[in-house]
Amino acid sequence: MNLYKKIIRPIFFQINPDVLHEGIIKFGNILGKNFVTRKPLGLIYNYENSVLKTEVFGIKFKNPIGLAGGFDKNANLIQTLPSLGFGFNEIGSVTARPYRGNPRPWNVRLKQEQSLIINYGLKNQGVDIIKKRIKTQKRSIPLIINIAKTNDARIKGDASIEDYNKSFVKLQPLADVININISCPNTGDGQLLCESPFLLNKLLKKISQNKVKKPIVLKLKPDLSEKLLKEVIETVKKYPIVKGFIISNLTRNRNLLKKTDPKSVAQYNGGVSGKPMRELSNKMIKTIYKMTRGKYRIIGLGGVFEARDAYEKICLGASLVELATGLIYGGPGTIKSINKGLVVLLKKDGFTNISQAVGSRNKLN
Ligand SMILES: Cc1cc2nc3c(=O)[nH]c(=O)nc-3n(C[C@H](O)[C@H](O)[C@H](O)COP(=O)(O)O)c2cc1C
Repeated sequence: MNLYKKIIRPIFFQINPDVLHEGIIKFGNILGKNFVTRKPLGLIYNYENSVLKTEVFGIKFKNPIGLAGGFDKNANLIQTLPSLGFGFNEIGSVTARPYRGNPRPWNVRLKQEQSLIINYGLKNQGVDIIKKRIKTQKRSIPLIINIAKTNDARIKGDASIEDYNKSFVKLQPLADVININISCPNTGDGQLLCESPFLLNKLLKKISQNKVKKPIVLKLKPDLSEKLLKEVIETVKKYPIVKGFIISNLTRNRNLLKKTDPKSVAQYNGGVSGKPMRELSNKMIKTIYKMTRGKYRIIGLGGVFEARDAYEKICLGASLVELATGLIYGGPGTIKSINKGLVVLLKKDGFTNISQAVGSRNKLN
């Protein structure tokens, strides 16, 4: 019996999702601080298998499953997540200045869809506080730091480039990988750098002027037109500091909801996560892998709930996979279950290591 789905989730889902998220972060932080609480978590949830070990961006990962950006916004769970079996984690989005969040609700559950409408609008404590917190925590798995532009509509054009750069300079030394989020759907200015190759070019030029020592990936939205996507890739090709893409962020496309009348949720602002966006994100992984002939590493996410979902993204071209909504609906056992399932799927297809499966169903010729 799945204890989380049968007993814990029905109780959790009685609680307001914004309150629950904050509660879980506080509780998770306490669990991660003590060896006495970390150890039993590890015994229950850890799973290791050499088939899952992989090297991406020159970094070793014990398995390809990571926590998506936005769950641990302020880096409170760095010591907890390895005990839940994650191969890596991502914190943020972190912005140069703190932001208290858009008007609530920040999360709306769409249970029938296995989805959420998310509208934090890059709520976070800001780079200085988060930097201090990262420094105090012991790390045992690779850390991706997600940086974004401060959610303030007055910061535009060149000022937005400076704003990103501030966070980059402060956080690069602490990250294994830097994810530049150019696709948050919930900011006041609505300005997405992935829709403006001109500004993206300026941003990458500015970042390149630093001593860039860590791999950089760009987080894209899943419904970028093919024309814009081509322009983004052409821009990126000029900057060898960019090593990959995170595909994808939330979608604003409410027509993807299958069991919910979009009108019934029209009063909630925000982007849609989880199952409804899975195919959209898969399509984009497939396109980018093909367009770039596999030269960029892809971290795939969007609607990953079980091993099959992760495997599909890997076979389309993702080297690593992340999840957020799948964790909320499936509970902490989800990571172990995905990793175990991946081993079975890989063996069934005759692969002896996860890296062999990357792009295996997305032939480049
Ligand atoms: C609670 C929550 C908060 C999020 N906040 C952020 C964020 O701050 N920055 C970001 O890049 N993505 C954020 N996202 C988007 C996720 O990283 C991910 O791209 C999206 O949810 C699709 O993955 P999923 O279906 O596994 O949730 C958030 C998602 C959730 C569920």
